Amino acid sequence: MKSISIRALTLSLVFICRTCAQVVSPSTNVTNVAIDLLDASHILHFLDILDAFGHVSSRNPDNSSQFIMTFAIAPALATSQSLVTYEIDNATAIQLTFNTSVTGAAVPSGFSERYIHSQIYKAFPDVTSVVHAHTTSVIPFAAAGIGLKAQMGVAGSLGTLTHGTPIFDFASLPTSVLPEDAPHNLLVVNEVLGDALAGTFSNDSAVVLMTGHGMAVRGTSVRNVVFRSYYTMENANVQSTTTFLGALAMGGKSPTGLSPRVAMDATTTNEGDSTLGRAWALWTAQVDTNSLYVNDLRP
Ligand SMILES: *[C@@H]1O[C@H](CO)[C@@H](O)[C@H](O)[C@H]1NC(C)=O
Ligand SMILES: *[C@@H]1O[C@H](CO)[C@@H](O)[C@H](O)[C@H]1NC(C)=O
Ligand SMILES: *[C@@H]1O[C@H](CO)[C@@H](O)[C@H](O)[C@H]1NC(C)=O
Ligand SMILES: *[C@@H]1O[C@H](CO)[C@@H](O)[C@H](O)[C@H]1NC(C)=O
Ligand SMILES: *[C@@H]1O[C@H](CO)[C@@H](O)[C@H](O)[C@H]1NC(C)=O
Repeated sequence: MKSISIRALTLSLVFICRTCAQVVSPSTNVTNVAIDLLDASHILHFLDILDAFGHVSSRNPDNSSQFIMTFAIAPALATSQSLVTYEIDNATAIQLTFNTSVTGAAVPSGFSERYIHSQIYKAFPDVTSVVHAHTTSVIPFAAAGIGLKAQMGVAGSLGTLTHGTPIFDFASLPTSVLPEDAPHNLLVVNEVLGDALAGTFSNDSAVVLMTGHGMAVRGTSVRNVVFRSYYTMENANVQSTTTFLGALAMGGKSPTGLSPRVAMDATTTNEGDSTLGRAWALWTAQVDTNSLYVNDLRP
């Protein structure tokens, strides 16, 4: 009787360990970040910040040398089985985050521009989340050579530099970064290009505009980087309108924007947990009304 139950126990332990070896359940922290990443992918699409293209990622909360983002898929369609854990060192896929038996080359192809994310994480240890998007209200600014400047408190993270947010211009990269024979297709597809983009950030601004392409946004959490991306788009709309109105005014007038003090204080207030939480509650409720978006990690 005793030996039978010990045998049964051993068998069940072997079974559990075999299962463990194949699929390790992600930690609570990773699961929580993954829930936000899926919501973020859906929200960024719902709010028209990105379309079929563009992406959001998070540093792995359990290991700061890794980051998590989906393989190459339209963000609106992302589910837990699209999430991949990548090396920050070289943007190589390690495994599917929620099926660790799928590793290395067996992981479906990632976004060719995942180097935007890996090199920003490498350059800025305090950055925990990144968005890259082709938002059409933002693109005219780099095209006109005009940076964005904070015009409203919720967009304070854009900063108040005289020339506005820095602009990453593919056409003016040196041949050491973009060799003559490399495709000049605006895509940031290796560590050297990613590093050049990351090096364009200014301490004053969370955003870099990309000429003919879109923007890169860095943040301190997934919710924070979605908030910054949304209000970068809204700020672009406000700054465009202000520029046109100012040009029509007697004598002409460029938008002044916020003072550095106001931008800084407003950012501290507006990017606090309470404000982010209020926005997140609305945005998750909005994506929940549309069956296109499936977050299978959230009840
Ligand atoms: C998980 O997250 C909590 C809250 O952010 C943090 O205090 C804790 O250290 C994290 N655990 C690990 C293993 O990183
Ligand atoms: C953290 O990630 C690095 C790079 O993938 C890996 O070499 C290291 O073993 C990981 N650390 C832990 C504690 O898992
Ligand atoms: C990528 O980086 C990781 C961590 O440094 C390293 O272990 C791995 O060998 C690298 N892979 C490739 C293909 O270079
Ligand atoms: C994990 O991936 C393997 C290989 O594709 C597949 O056979 C298995 O069903 C997957 N497991 C889960 C839980 O999806
Ligand atoms: C920008 O920030 C980095 C670290 O966050 C710091 O080392 C550097 O001195 C800052 N540069 C300027 C011009 O303030």
